[in-house]
Amino acid sequence: MIKKILKAIGYLALLALVVIQFFRPEKNEAGYEAVKAFEAETKPSAEVVAILKANCYDCHSNHTNYPWYAEVAPISLWLDDHVRHGKGDFNVSEWESYSVKKKDHKLEELIEEVEEGHMPLDSYTWIHGKLSEEDKTTLIQWATLARLQYKTQLEVSAR
Ligand code: HEC
Repeated sequence: MIKKILKAIGYLALLALVVIQFFRPEKNEAGYEAVKAFEAETKPSAEVVAILKANCYDCHSNHTNYPWYAEVAPISLWLDDHVRHGKGDFNVSEWESYSVKKKDHKLEELIEEVEEGHMPLDSYTWIHGKLSEEDKTTLIQWATLARLQYKTQLEVSAR
C-alpha cells in the first residue's frame, strides 16, 4: 500500500516537473546597446566594464547572459525573479530616464552594497564566484568618482 502511494507521488512529481517546463519566462535579451548611455556618463575603465559585465549586468541591465540551466524550470523561473527584481531597483539600461538625484543615490547604494558584500546576490556567487577585494576597490573608486559629477550638478541646481 505504502509502496503504491509513494510510486503515485513519484509520478505526480515527475508530471509536475514536465508541466512547468511549458512556463517559459520571457528572456531579458535586449542587448548591451542600451548600456552605452550609462557607460558614457559614468566613464568606467575597460576593467570596470569587465567587472560589471561579469558580475552585475545580468540582473541590472536589459541584457542577461543566460547559462544553459536557465532553460530548465523551476530554475528559469527563479532566475527570472532575480532579474526582474534587480532591474526594478537599479537598471543601467534605463539610466537616461533617472533624475540626477536618483543617479547619485543609486551609485551611493552601489558603493554600500559592494562594500558590505551584499552584491552580487549569494546565489549568483555560488556559480560565478565572489568579487575579489581588488574588484571591490576598483568598483568603489569608479563609483565615487562618477558620483562627483552628479553631486556637483545637484549643488549647482540648489543654488
Ligand atoms: C543574480 C542577480 C543579481 C546580481 C548578479 C546583482 N544584483 Fe544587485 N540586486 C539584485 C536584486 C534582486 C536586488 C534587490 C533586492 C536586494 O537588495 O536584495 C538588487 C539590488 C541592488 C542595489 C540596490 C538598489 C537600491 O536602490 O536599493 C544595487 C545598488 C545593486 N543591486 C548593485 C549591484 C552590483 C554593483 C552588482 C555587481 C557587483 C549586482 N548588484 C549584482 C540582483 C542582483
